[in-house]
Amino acid sequence: MCGIVGYIGTKKASPILINGLLRLEYRGYDSAGIATIEKDGISLMKDKGRVKNLYNLEGIDDLEGTIGIAHTRWATHGKPSKENSHPHIDNSKTFSVVHNGIIENYHELREFLADNGYTFYSQTDTEVIPNLIHYYYSKDEKNDELKFLRAVRNACKDLKGSFAIEVVCKDYPDNMIVVRKDSPLVIGKGDGENYISSDIPAILSFTRDFYLLNDLEFVILSRNDAKFYDIDLKPIDKKTKTIEWNASSAEKDGFDDYMLKEIYEQPTAIRETIGSKLTENSKCEFEDLTFTKEYLQSINKIYIVACGTAMHAGLAGKNAIEKLCKIPTEVDIASEFRYRDPIIDEKTLCIFISQSGETADTIAALKLSREKGAKTLAISNVIGSSITREADYSIYTHAGPEIAVASTKAYTSQVVLLILLSIYFAELLEIKNEDIANLKKEVLELPKKIEETLKTSEVVKEFSKKVYQEKDMFFLGRGIDETVAKEGSLKLKEISYIHAESYAAGELKHGPIALIENDVTVIGIMTDPKLVEKTISNIQEVVTRGAKTLIVTNQDIDDKRFDMVIHIPHTNTFVSPILSIIPLQLFSYYISKEKGLDVDKPRNLAKSVTVE
Ligand code: F6R
Repeated sequence: MCGIVGYIGTKKASPILINGLLRLEYRGYDSAGIATIEKDGISLMKDKGRVKNLYNLEGIDDLEGTIGIAHTRWATHGKPSKENSHPHIDNSKTFSVVHNGIIENYHELREFLADNGYTFYSQTDTEVIPNLIHYYYSKDEKNDELKFLRAVRNACKDLKGSFAIEVVCKDYPDNMIVVRKDSPLVIGKGDGENYISSDIPAILSFTRDFYLLNDLEFVILSRNDAKFYDIDLKPIDKKTKTIEWNASSAEKDGFDDYMLKEIYEQPTAIRETIGSKLTENSKCEFEDLTFTKEYLQSINKIYIVACGTAMHAGLAGKNAIEKLCKIPTEVDIASEFRYRDPIIDEKTLCIFISQSGETADTIAALKLSREKGAKTLAISNVIGSSITREADYSIYTHAGPEIAVASTKAYTSQVVLLILLSIYFAELLEIKNEDIANLKKEVLELPKKIEETLKTSEVVKEFSKKVYQEKDMFFLGRGIDETVAKEGSLKLKEISYIHAESYAAGELKHGPIALIENDVTVIGIMTDPKLVEKTISNIQEVVTRGAKTLIVTNQDIDDKRFDMVIHIPHTNTFVSPILSIIPLQLFSYYISKEKGLDVDKPRNLAKSVTVE
C-alpha cells in the first residue's frame, strides 16, 4: 500500500527513482512523484495517474540531483490528485517527505500546526509531517550535525499510526533520513550509494545486501554510510543481511504478465518451500522450530489467522492439522479476529500467515495473541518482514518475490508449508497415522504434478473465451474443495471484476440457487472421492436450471454431463488444493486478458495492505 523508493549516491537519482517506482507500482498506482535535491534546493515533480506519467512532466529530464525520494500512492486521505500526491514539502520548502501508512492523529496535528502559522495545500495526512519536522527544526537552537535528525525524531514522537518515511532537507544536501513504524522499509547497501525501498524486489537489481529496520530506528544515510539511532538517539550497531533472491526473479522473463509467470513458477516455489524439510523416509524437520511433544500436548487450540488468499491457505492448514494431529483448529480473518475478543491463553498456539509479512491486520492480531499469552508462529515469504520480527517463531515459504497483486505461488507455497507443519506436529506428537507416509510421498510428487496440471492451460483458455463477458459466476465444492472454491472465486473477482460467489455445494439449495438461471456459469471442484457423487448431484441441480458448467476434478466422472471438464492429476485431499487451484488461477488470468484488463495491477487493489 503505497510504494517508497529512495536513492543517495553519485548517479543521477531521477531515473533510478522512477525505475524503482515502476517496480513498486503493484503497491499502489493512483499517483506518483519524486523529490530530488538540486543545486537550488528541493525539486518536486508529481502528478496523479501511473508512474509512467512522470516521464511527461516538464523538466524531469533536466534533474541533476544525486539524492532523491519517490512515491507511488494508493489513496487513503484525499482523492488522487496532483496536490495529494507525494512527495510533500513544508511551507518553508526546507523538508520534503514521502510516507507510507496512516497518521491517525493528523487532524489534531494539522490544527496545532495551523495555530502556529502553517498552511496546508492537500487533504492528506502526510502533509503534517514535513511541517511538523520544520516546526521542531525551527525551535532547535543547536546547530550541530544532528539537528536534522532531532527534528525528524521529535516529529515522529508526535505521530500516531503507522509510517515509513523518507525525508530530505535542503540544509543537509548530502543526507537523507528514513524511519519506519508498522510500515515496511528496507535499505539496500551499494558501493558508495544506498537505496531505499518499501520492499526488496524493487532494488534487487542494484544490491542483495540489505539493512532491515525495526520500528522507530532512525537512519541517517549518506553516500558511503548508514548510521542507525534509537528513539533516544543512541547509536545502534546494525549489520546487513544478504538476500538469496536473484534479480531475475523480480523480472517478467518473457511472460506477458507477472501473474502468468508466477503461476508457472509454482513447481519451483513448491520444491524450494519443501527444501530439505522432508524426505520420504525421515521425519519432517523445521530448522527454526523448537516445539516439544510436551508443549504440543499442552495446547488445546490452534488459531490460524490471516487475510484474503493467505486465509484460504489457512483453511487447507486447518484440514491437515485437525486430521493428522487432532488439535482443534480455527481459521479466522485477521481484521475480525482482533475485534471479536477471541478466547486465547497460554494453551493456544496462534499461526499467522502473510506473504508480505506487512499486513496491518495480521500483525495487530499477532500482537493481541501475544499479549494474551499465546505462542505465535509466523508464516511469511519475506525474510525479516514485520510479522516475522514480532512472532515467537517464523517459518518461510520460498516462493521468491510475488509481484502480481493476485496471489498465486504464495498461496500454494503456504498450503504446502502448512501441510509440512502438520506432519512435523504429528511426528512430534508420535501420532501413528498411516496417512502420514502416503502424504509425504504425495508432497514430494507435487512439483511434477503441478507441471502436469499446468498443461490444462489451453483448455482453460478455450473455456474462458466462452464466458469472459459474463456478469456473475458461482464456485462450488464440498469439504476441502470448498476452500478452493473460495480462493477461485476471489481470484476471479480481483482481476476480472466479474461478480463471483463461492458456496459449499450442499448449501446452494438453501437460498443461492434462486440466482441460477439460463447460462449462468458454475464452476465445480471435485477432488474428494468421498464427496464427488454428492457434489455432482448439486451441480446437476444447476445444470437442470440452465447453468454452463466447468468442472475441475481428479476423479473419474462422466464428462458428458458438463460443458467442460478439466482433469488434473490424482492426489489426496490434503494436497489437492495445490493442484485444483491452478486451473482456476489460469481461468481468472485468461478472462482478465480477454477483457483487456491490467492483470497485474487490478483496480482499487494493492499488493501489501499496510493499513487497517
Ligand atoms: C489476493 C491477495 C490478498 C492477500 C491478502 C493478504 O490475491 O493477494 O487477498 O492474500 O491481502 O496479504 P498477505 O499475505 O501479504 O498478508
